[in-house]
Amino acid sequence: MEHSQIDRILEMNNIVDVVSSYFPLKKSGSNYKARCPFHDEKTASFVVSEKKQIYKCFGCGKGGNAITFVRDYEKISFGEALRMLAIRAGISLKEVKVDQKKQSRKELIYTVYTLATSFFKESRKKFGNEANTYLSKRQLSQKTIEKFEIGFALDSFGGLKNHLLKNNINSQILEKTGLFSSNDNGIYDVFRNRLMFPIHSVTGKVIAFGGRILRENQGGGKYINSPTTEIYTKGNELYGLFITRYEISKKDQVIVSEGYLDFLRLFENGFKNSVASLGTSLTDSQINLLSRYSNNFVILYDGDDAGQKAAVRAAGNVIKKGFSVRLVSLPKDEDPDSFIMKYGTEELQQLIDEAKKLPVFLLEDERSGLEKKAKLNLLIEILNETEDEISRELFIKEIAETFEISEHAISSKVRINRKKKTKTLNPSSDLQKYPEEKNLLKIILNDKSLYKKVAKQVDSDYFLSKNYRDIFVQISKNIEKLNSVSGLFEYVEDELSKKILADLIIEKTSEVSLEDILLEIKLRKYKKDQQTIKEKIHNNPFDKELLKEKYEIKQKIIGIDKKVVTKTLY
Ligand code: CTP
Ligand code: MN
Repeated sequence: MEHSQIDRILEMNNIVDVVSSYFPLKKSGSNYKARCPFHDEKTASFVVSEKKQIYKCFGCGKGGNAITFVRDYEKISFGEALRMLAIRAGISLKEVKVDQKKQSRKELIYTVYTLATSFFKESRKKFGNEANTYLSKRQLSQKTIEKFEIGFALDSFGGLKNHLLKNNINSQILEKTGLFSSNDNGIYDVFRNRLMFPIHSVTGKVIAFGGRILRENQGGGKYINSPTTEIYTKGNELYGLFITRYEISKKDQVIVSEGYLDFLRLFENGFKNSVASLGTSLTDSQINLLSRYSNNFVILYDGDDAGQKAAVRAAGNVIKKGFSVRLVSLPKDEDPDSFIMKYGTEELQQLIDEAKKLPVFLLEDERSGLEKKAKLNLLIEILNETEDEISRELFIKEIAETFEISEHAISSKVRINRKKKTKTLNPSSDLQKYPEEKNLLKIILNDKSLYKKVAKQVDSDYFLSKNYRDIFVQISKNIEKLNSVSGLFEYVEDELSKKILADLIIEKTSEVSLEDILLEIKLRKYKKDQQTIKEKIHNNPFDKELLKEKYEIKQKIIGIDKKVVTKTLY
């Protein structure tokens, strides 16, 4: 890709708009803040600078520009991120050609899931009599079916496979999609004669499927789900979120159910702030994802024992993270779907309004067969894993009131598991050793017109820190052709360098003047050279060239010392 095009894409996509299209940002001074989407945290360390057109997380260190953000958030390649942003900015696709052959494997897997989704939808329309009958028996509207792209997998071992091969997807890629199994005769379709529910990423890309049997005696599990692949991690996604995230944010409440059908029923009946956790109890990463939209969780799991147990686990996980949660208790034989069908939406709304906090829910629960003491122990386990002190205090109060025990008695049982903190990238120690190099880079990155002045006086040899030197080299090579320094992220390779670069761009420049910094860096360099030359002379005492060099360096140092003395740099 032409370089100017990257610049153009960056110019036309304001990073604040790009990031806000994924989750809300809060204004904070001249910057914007949010909880970091790349690591698990409760405070907002993720900063977006509109002026500098970059983002940076002070918790985990991730940083970059609009393109790297989309790449890392969507888990796609750099090229695909460029394409998305080009489309977003209305730059024609023809201008931003992406070489088919060079499409990364991940992108190809996305392509496969897109093709498969259309294929399943078509198959349902053309050959899905039984599937359509089943859907109308379940009383799902055409609108819902279309919106959530529900399809049908043919009763065939090669239907999808042949369709994809016809579309020039090679079989090595097919093997990576989780949609096929293999035997001696090669690969074959995993999903056969099933109702197909696509699972979408938050941004609406299909990344997995759940397939439901159409008849009770059909064989195989009731549901089959895509396994973890390069584009899908089980337990990280939430069914329906791509549609309901706005409503969740608006209502500032999320209703979490267990199943596809529960979700769809809730959605159809106006509970549009819901998601389904898909069989598992709610995981930490699902909670993190949801907490970007709301911190108020309502757990609406099946009324059976398994459902209620999973609900307690889910609520515990939410509490541990310091968010608020209430639980709905459904009658023993109902799930949200059957409950709505039987009793209607108003009844369900009432149950949601009356949803209980976990201690009350547990205390009143008779199905678990747990003794009061066992219930308390369960709550104390959750307390032990709750890191946030305020959340812990509040939870202790709740337990004490509900179980009618003193707060003291509960506190005495609490021993906090100090969990290992998220690993952050630790800049190697030489970064701290050379603050003047850091300051120099910050000044250049803050005002790139100063680069020329700097380049006249120092080059990369003047840098003692390898990390800073590498960045200086990239600045030297690229700064002329870049409109914005955020374009440099394309040229620094590793994560550590990206982190350092983001720090340099976002941090305030120091008070020390450019002149002083240059003097200091030059002086240091000359002194080092002087040392080297002295060693050489020690080995070759009569080399005239060396002696001359030594003299020249000495003069340079004297020149600088004169200036420095008056500035009292040291
Ligand atoms: N699930 C699964 N594999 C199974 C059973 C269940 O992955 N063998 C997951 C599915 O995501 C399912 C959810 O757990 O949607 C809840 O399971 P269940 O209550 O059995 O299914 P429902 O979604 O309620 O579907 P239905 O109403 O058709 O019974
Ligand atoms: Mn169910």
